[in-house]
Amino acid sequence: MKITNYGQSAFLVETKGKKLLFDPFISPNPLAKDIDIDAIEADYILLSHGHTDHVLDAESIGKRTGAVIISNFEVVSWYGEKGIKGHPMNHGGKFNFDFGTVKYVNAIHSSVLPDGTYGGNPGGFVIWNEEACFYFAGDTALTLDMKLIPMTCPSLDFAILPIGDNFTMGYEDAVIASDFIECNKVIGCHYDTFGYIKIDHSEAQKSFADKGKELVLLPIGESLNL
Ligand code: NI
Ligand code: MN
Repeated sequence: MKITNYGQSAFLVETKGKKLLFDPFISPNPLAKDIDIDAIEADYILLSHGHTDHVLDAESIGKRTGAVIISNFEVVSWYGEKGIKGHPMNHGGKFNFDFGTVKYVNAIHSSVLPDGTYGGNPGGFVIWNEEACFYFAGDTALTLDMKLIPMTCPSLDFAILPIGDNFTMGYEDAVIASDFIECNKVIGCHYDTFGYIKIDHSEAQKSFADKGKELVLLPIGESLNL
């Protein structure tokens, strides 16, 4: 599996010949100014919730690539009215796609679409196939529901967790989340983009290292093979 960071919570995961784009918010992000958004290909766009800092580029990339949006029913319906194909899910449900299994799991947050339309309840995704199993948490607080993931899904190889605090859990709580999900390799997201969520990278990494865990802070535009 190849993981590329596009900043905020936008990641591209390439697996089994398919490209999965998560929460594309790239064009307005000054930290991601070197990313050529027109060069991004996607077979699927997975949206954790309706907030602008997760969906802003989904419409343009979806229309250009013909990607299928995977999200909750409300978000998929909103994009459906714009002519973009989608696969609606809801919490606790899983489905076998051509790239692997997706389970839409709980998140503690809010969700409204850019025009004020109700965005359903926010979620995260657990995705697995023969290559790996990972958790993309979306925007969430630390929640005991995370303990359900190791009870209901294959063991995680890595997790993409928000660590920026203020709007989501901070890195201290993300360390506890990694215990709940029984995963020692975490890729951080949702930090540094705005003043409210700027973090001290070395402090964040030390919090994980002190517990024998790894926090990967992947520079924007860089990729990792896991
Ligand atoms: Ni949000
Ligand atoms: Mn957000």
